[in-house]
Amino acid sequence: MKISSLGYVGVGTPRAKEWESFGPEILGTPLWTEPSDGVYLRLDERAYRIAVHPAGRDELQYIGWEMGNPTALEEAASELQERGFAVERGSADDCKRRHVEGMIVFRDPWKIRHELFYGQRSLMSFRPTRDISGFVTGELGLGHIVLALPELAAATKFFVDVLGFRVSDYIDVPFPLAFYHCNPRHHTIAVGAMAPVVGLHHIMLELKDLNDVGTTYDLCRKQGLQFAMDLGRHSNDRMVSFYVRTPGGFEIEYGWGGLLIDDSKWQVQRLPLPSFWGHNPMSQSPPTTIYPVS
Ligand SMILES: [Fe+2]
Repeated sequence: MKISSLGYVGVGTPRAKEWESFGPEILGTPLWTEPSDGVYLRLDERAYRIAVHPAGRDELQYIGWEMGNPTALEEAASELQERGFAVERGSADDCKRRHVEGMIVFRDPWKIRHELFYGQRSLMSFRPTRDISGFVTGELGLGHIVLALPELAAATKFFVDVLGFRVSDYIDVPFPLAFYHCNPRHHTIAVGAMAPVVGLHHIMLELKDLNDVGTTYDLCRKQGLQFAMDLGRHSNDRMVSFYVRTPGGFEIEYGWGGLLIDDSKWQVQRLPLPSFWGHNPMSQSPPTTIYPVS
């Protein structure tokens, strides 16, 4: 199966309305106001990249994986069926709701809803809502997503054998983590055996300029927002980033300088620590909120 990139992510939260300001005023992401079923954040010319739907609780609703074309989607559907997954074809209504040309849907062994799609709607222009340079997307996709799953071996079996990701590396501290890539971005998905629950831990947005991370960090401090982790630099993807808590509690990693992988030379490693420096928990931080699966 050939997934091109992470296309979109959908979450639910009782605090969806707060994203109307959190997105544009803090993250610098304009809203796409055409849909009426949530708050849609834009990172680039795509109509949206993160959808925040009003819900009775905080939850991860769906992960959208971009396939290059209809043929890649069809091949993926056949492969999944051969492996025993119940694959649902996206109806015209489903496609309309996600603003894509075609899609299939299935649940993974942990009941997370995966949507494979092609042809996401684009708009004519994009401009960040704050004075930042913008987000690194394109063929690298929206960023990365990190999930809490109970067991890494089973996660690797699924993401590598079924979804076709390649292992980037492993880190064992502060809990076992595995990182996977599907394009040159060091990791598009990572999994941490961090809690007995299954769910969403954070989404990473990559900025084009280190100053964007610095000025946003200052803004978050000034606004009194909760950081989950202070500024730091990761040892594996070299990302300089901080982690801010979103309305509802899951984290956004706001970063710059992510490593690109050349598969012909890449060597999988096991690293002793997650960060060269920083990324310290902030003293006022409550424990991370993992968004369970809807
Ligand atoms: Fe991350």
